[in-house]
Amino acid sequence: MDFPWWRDAVVYEIYVRSFADASGDGVGDLAGVRRRLPYLADLGVDAVWLSPFYRSPMADGGYDVSDYRDVDPLFGSLDDFDALVTDAHARGLRVIVDIVPNHSSDEHAWFQAALAAPAGSPERARYLFADGGELPPNNWQSTFSGPAWTRLPDGQWYLHLFAPEQPDLNWRDPVVHAEFLDVLRFWLDRGVDGFRIDVAMGLYKAAGLPDTPPEDQAFKAESPIWGRPETHEVYREWRKVLDSYPGDRMAVGEVWTDSAEDLARYVRPDELQQSFNFAWLQAPWSPTAFREVIDDTLATVPSPTWVLSNHDVVRHRTRYDETDPGTGLARAKAALLVMLALPGSAYLYQGEELGLPEVTDLPPGTRQDPIFERSGGELFGRDGCRVPLPWSGTAMPYGFSPDGARPWLPQPVEWAALSAERQAADPGSTLAYYQRALALRRSLRRSLPDGIAWLDSPEGALVFTRGTLTCAINCGPDPVPLPPHERVLLSSGSIHAGTLPPDTAVWLS
Ligand code: GLC
Repeated sequence: MDFPWWRDAVVYEIYVRSFADASGDGVGDLAGVRRRLPYLADLGVDAVWLSPFYRSPMADGGYDVSDYRDVDPLFGSLDDFDALVTDAHARGLRVIVDIVPNHSSDEHAWFQAALAAPAGSPERARYLFADGGELPPNNWQSTFSGPAWTRLPDGQWYLHLFAPEQPDLNWRDPVVHAEFLDVLRFWLDRGVDGFRIDVAMGLYKAAGLPDTPPEDQAFKAESPIWGRPETHEVYREWRKVLDSYPGDRMAVGEVWTDSAEDLARYVRPDELQQSFNFAWLQAPWSPTAFREVIDDTLATVPSPTWVLSNHDVVRHRTRYDETDPGTGLARAKAALLVMLALPGSAYLYQGEELGLPEVTDLPPGTRQDPIFERSGGELFGRDGCRVPLPWSGTAMPYGFSPDGARPWLPQPVEWAALSAERQAADPGSTLAYYQRALALRRSLRRSLPDGIAWLDSPEGALVFTRGTLTCAINCGPDPVPLPPHERVLLSSGSIHAGTLPPDTAVWLS
C-alpha cells in the first residue's frame, strides 16, 4: 500500500527542556537531542516532534515565542537545529516542529510596538485590544486561571487566553496570516517534515467578544472562544503551502474538543493531515469507554491518531493508578498495545517508554508552570510530567545533564532504577517492551488493513482483529480466556495457561 509516511507513523514527542542537556545549564537543548538520536532510532519511532525551541522569555516554557525564526540561546542556535535535522534524516527520523499561532510572547516585537502605539493603531490591530473601563471587556477566564484580560496604563485591555505574557493574536488582521505563512516557509525551507499546531482550535474569537457562560468557555466544538468556523480558512492556506513542498510535509493540530465530528472538521483533504485524538487520552480504564472512543474515531476521523500522554497532562501510568493503585504501569503497557494495533498513527511522550510516573511531590519552590502561580498554588500545573529524563547513573542528574549540573526540576531518587541505561540492559524492562512492540508494529503495519472488526469479548475485555492480527485487552478484575490463535506475538505482561490476566493486553496471530 502506498500512502504518506505520517498516516501510520509513530511520533515521539520531545519536550526539549526536559529531554537531554548537552550544554550543562540544567535545561535540555537541541545538541542534547542530537546526541540521543541513536536512542530514538533504536526505540523504533518514525518521527520526533520538538516542543518550541524558539526565542522566548520562557513565561510558559517556550510557548510564548518572541521570535518565530530563531532558536533561543537556552536551546542552542539555528546551526544546532540544522545539524539536528540533518542527523535525524540520516537516521530515517522525520522532524516535526511546534508552531504557536494563537498568541505570541509579550516580548515579541509586534507586541512591544503595540504597547508603544495608541489605541486604534495598526500595531494594536494585530492583537485583541479592547476598551473596558475599570472592568475587563468581557467575562472570559484564562485557561491558566484568572481573568483573560490585562489592563494597560492607558486604560485599554488586551486578551490572553493563557498567561498575560501570551497576548492573543488577531487573526482578522491579514498581516497575521502573511506572517505565519512566511514562518511556515522559513522552517520548511530548513527541512522540517511537519508542524504540530499549538491551540489549533483557538485563533479566531467571536466578533464582539461576547460574555460567555462558564460552561461554554471550556474546550468545545463551537463557542465564542474556541473552534470558530473561520479557523478552517487558516488551515486551508497552510495546506497549500505544505503541498507546495515535496516529501509529504504535514501538520497535526492540537484540537481540544468535545466531539469526534468536530475533530474531523480539521482533518480534511484541504486542511490538516491529522489532529490529536484527546478522547483516547481522556478515556478512563474501561472497555466500554475504550470501545466507544475507538468506534467513534474510526467512524468519523480520516487518518486517526492515538495519544496517551503529552507535556500538558498527568502521565498515563499515574492516571491509571489513581483509580486502582499499583496497576498503572501494567495498564500503561497494555494500553500501548491497543493503540499500536489500531489503524492510524500513534504519538508517544518522552519517558513513557521508561514507564515514568508523574512526579507529584515536587518540592515547594521548584514548580515553574505558570498555572501553579496563577491559581495561587491551588492547581499543581504540569511540571510533574516535565521532570528531566533519567538517562544513566544512580544519582541526579542521571545523565540528563553533565555531572555536577542541576536539572531545572529535581528528579526523584527512585528514578535511578528507571534510567534508560539500566533498562537497555534488561530484557524485562519497559524500554525493552516498547522496542519490541514498535519493531513488531513496523514489520506488520503495511500489511494490515485500515479497519478493525470486533470479536465477541468476555466481560471486562475487548478483542478485535485487524487483518491477521488479533488484539485483546483485559480491563476487568478476573483473568479471561485468550481468543483463538496460532501464536502469541507479544503480550504486555505474563500470560498463563491460555488466559489473559487483568490489566494485560496481547497481540495474537
Ligand atoms: C498548548 C501547549 C501548552 C501551552 C499552551 C499555550 O496547550 O501544549 O503547553 O501551555 O498551548 O501555548
